Amino acid sequence: MTTHLRHLTTLENLPRATIEHLLDRAIAMRDACAHGTRKLDLLTGRTVLNLFFEPSTRTRTSFELAARRLGADVVNFNIGVSSTTKGETLYDTLHTLEAMHLDAIVVRHKVDGTPDELVRNAMSGVSIVNAGDGHHAHPTQGLLDALTIRQHRPDFENLTVTICGDIRHSRVARSDVHALTALGVKAIRFCGPAGLLPDADEFPQVQCSEDFDAAIAGADVAIMLRLQKERMAATELPDEAAYFQHYGLDPRRLARADRGCLVMHPGPLNRGIEIADEVADGPQSRVLEQVANGVFVRMAVLGELLAR
Ligand code: CP
Repeated sequence: MTTHLRHLTTLENLPRATIEHLLDRAIAMRDACAHGTRKLDLLTGRTVLNLFFEPSTRTRTSFELAARRLGADVVNFNIGVSSTTKGETLYDTLHTLEAMHLDAIVVRHKVDGTPDELVRNAMSGVSIVNAGDGHHAHPTQGLLDALTIRQHRPDFENLTVTICGDIRHSRVARSDVHALTALGVKAIRFCGPAGLLPDADEFPQVQCSEDFDAAIAGADVAIMLRLQKERMAATELPDEAAYFQHYGLDPRRLARADRGCLVMHPGPLNRGIEIADEVADGPQSRVLEQVANGVFVRMAVLGELLAR
């Protein structure tokens, strides 16, 4: 029995069955569209709006591809040339766009909780999909990361996953923990400098460490995160060379992980800061698989929310 989804703003508290259902649906989408070479007509006549108030390469493009591959019409709202620059509020923008009869709004915003605010303020039957809000949640990234891991290591109950980097400001880390905890991962470790770790009581089930050599020892999956400079005060910025020395994933550190450890990164990569070229481009890197899975996961989510 899975929960019927009308919106997707977070993975927190989603049942395991619902997450597994979305991952299964992503694989079914991949197979049905022959890895993207064939279009489906599941969402013919539906309209999806991409409303991105922060930059994006992967998420925005893959939501557009996902919607188009399902037969939907897509509008990419360009904030920079929109009437938000003339002072229109988020809610007036929302209601203006809703009046044009949209079926889904995919929103990215720097402020935590904006997608939930839109759910509360939406006037019509529109579905809201969170494409990343502040450091709160990035649910489709959490799903595509879980899918990428499952394709190689479906034995979640045996897995140790190390997430290293700027976790304090990371919506990806939060959604990954929500997905991986629901799927029954054995152990999740956070690693980073003290100032970039979350508050101790936020994730009681996660072990936190400032020692990357220790945190990666025996890990089955290493998820590397960039420094989110856009969410830090100038005084919080670490020295990049020193950061790489302590928290960069290089071949020496990767050799401490389990043999065959999956190397993941949500992107964008800052090479030479959190990850070395040899590792980012090496045989254990799953970074581009994550990107490919992003399209299928977003097809699954849009299909789940919008299919009649
Ligand atoms: N992973 C991710 O959200 O990347 P973009 O910022 O490029 O969408």
